[in-house]
Amino acid sequence: MRVDYSTLAKTIAALTAGENDPVALMATVTCEVHHSDDRFNWTGFYRVVRPELLKIGPYQGGHGCLVIPFDRGVCGAAARTGQVQLVADVDAFPGHIACASSTRSELVLPVWNRAGDLIAVFDIDSDLPDAFDQADAEGLAAVLADTFAKL
Ligand code: SME
Repeated sequence: MRVDYSTLAKTIAALTAGENDPVALMATVTCEVHHSDDRFNWTGFYRVVRPELLKIGPYQGGHGCLVIPFDRGVCGAAARTGQVQLVADVDAFPGHIACASSTRSELVLPVWNRAGDLIAVFDIDSDLPDAFDQADAEGLAAVLADTFAKL
């Protein structure tokens, strides 16, 4: 099963209409994205809880590590730089944090609120090498912007 981002965006918009609780939004996005595509083996948010620190938020998949400083891992790089991290081979990424040894590739996107503050990063891990492409980054960025720009 391969995700159709246009359908996914409409589904999430319908499910989250009128909702402005960040955890409710993150939980719903996580669930809908995770089940939309067989490539997605771990899907979830790490929230900015204080300067330079991410903590686990809603997720689906196996156990995720609880705390990630901005200077560590793929998630930290996305939080630090504000740029999407598309990692084709996690073993080639310096400082990658292996929560699951089965993970081969990873896509992490920054999440901003309406004021432009970074509130979280959204992380998808795949057990397949080189699982993600620019279409995934763009499709997910659109979903995140639609969903969290209302906060
Ligand atoms: N691999 C991530 C850590 C989070 S987990 O994979 C769930 C990273 O390097 O930031």
